[in-house]
Amino acid sequence: MDSRPVQAPLAPRSLRAVWHPCTQMKLHEGAPPLAIVSGDGAWLEAEDGTRYLDAISSWWVNLFGHGHPHIRAAIHSQLDRLEHVMLAGCTHEPVVKLSERLGALTGLGHAHYGSDGASATEIAMKLSAHYWRNCGQPDKHRFVAVSGGYHGETLGALAVTDIPLFRDTYAPLLRDCSLVPSPDWRQAAAGEDAQAFARRQALALEAHLAQHHASTAALIVEPLIQCAGGMAMHHAEYLRLARELCTLYGVHLICDEIAVGFGRTGSLFAHQQAGIRPDFLCLSKGLSGGFLPLAVTLTTDDVYQAFYHHEVRRGFLHSHSYTGNPLACAAANAVLDVFEASDVLATNAALAARIDDAAAPIAALRQVRDWRRTGMVWAFEVDAPPGRREPVGPAIAAAALRHGVLLRPIGSTVYWMPPYCLDDHAIGHLIAGTLAALEETVG
Ligand SMILES: Cc1ncc(COP(=O)(O)O)c(C=O)c1O
Repeated sequence: MDSRPVQAPLAPRSLRAVWHPCTQMKLHEGAPPLAIVSGDGAWLEAEDGTRYLDAISSWWVNLFGHGHPHIRAAIHSQLDRLEHVMLAGCTHEPVVKLSERLGALTGLGHAHYGSDGASATEIAMKLSAHYWRNCGQPDKHRFVAVSGGYHGETLGALAVTDIPLFRDTYAPLLRDCSLVPSPDWRQAAAGEDAQAFARRQALALEAHLAQHHASTAALIVEPLIQCAGGMAMHHAEYLRLARELCTLYGVHLICDEIAVGFGRTGSLFAHQQAGIRPDFLCLSKGLSGGFLPLAVTLTTDDVYQAFYHHEVRRGFLHSHSYTGNPLACAAANAVLDVFEASDVLATNAALAARIDDAAAPIAALRQVRDWRRTGMVWAFEVDAPPGRREPVGPAIAAAALRHGVLLRPIGSTVYWMPPYCLDDHAIGHLIAGTLAALEETVG
């Protein structure tokens, strides 16, 4: 007989002890958090044995599935040698190797590490303003961001974020940031294609930079998809023009690929579809395959050289205790191994086409608007039934869970950002579960 004490279920214990992120805790009174005990590929298993398809890659971090054997083995093997050493004054093989590989893949170098995505944003912002100061232009310390953009929750990153629900409460704590209109193609005029609309929106950026370049350090953009703002997608032309304008007006271009890097948009990095190179590239989430917190900001030789000096203050005196953690870097190297060992982008393109075919009945629903996809991200708006006041997102998420699919709609935007490992069974489950959830909620 098993004599171990019976543990109380996790969810009520969690609600007593854990303050869950991005959550009004009172709403959990009606719907406790899902207690997950294991993950395997695209699937998560709950405490009661129910399996859920992780259609959102656990907040967009997972690339190749939960428990991917190569990434797991790389972490185990690193754990047997060195779990951590500080990166100030010391270095180690996983961080050197990862930095060399990221440099070769992006044409950028001088990898400065953080932990979560927001730390990569903060590093890029501080580096940009500090660069201008070191170059004798201390007045260039303002930032311009794209409306509806999201760059993280820490105060610097939140300052360049334009999502009122997250930002407004903290507005008195945030520094001023200018906004330019989004190139989100859904806002195009009738008959105007995404590329023409991107060009038109770039005119507003040009007007802003023409007037404010002397006080502007950098433009920050989410290349191709503004994810947290509701999976707003745009044409690569906007990025191409943004690069041109930033160069023309002497303003840095920060590409925040924290959510869209590592194959999400169909290319290894989203900005590559515009044939450009940013001054700063922020990466996180998929960087470690969804296994361990890791973020990195990459930059140019020009930026690096502006800090290289005998005077300590001209250096970048920014740090986090776990900067460049060896375990996380080993996971990230394993992610790059997977990209090297197989043609992930081509496999994803074929997988995406299969998902498109299977999803046709959802795209055709009368309640579904603005069906869209870029790479391995699908999104659509769901119209609420007449008279319904409350947002449909939470009801769709709850219904999807009953059908074994983990979704996290943003307002009335439903999206899928699945791991790259869905098989036919998982695709069928994703479509059937989403369809059933929509029928129960708005059908
Ligand atoms: C584009 C973008 N930037 C920054 C962040 C912040 O990353 P983190 O939540 O890891 O701090 C996110 C998170 O979703 C993001 O999507």
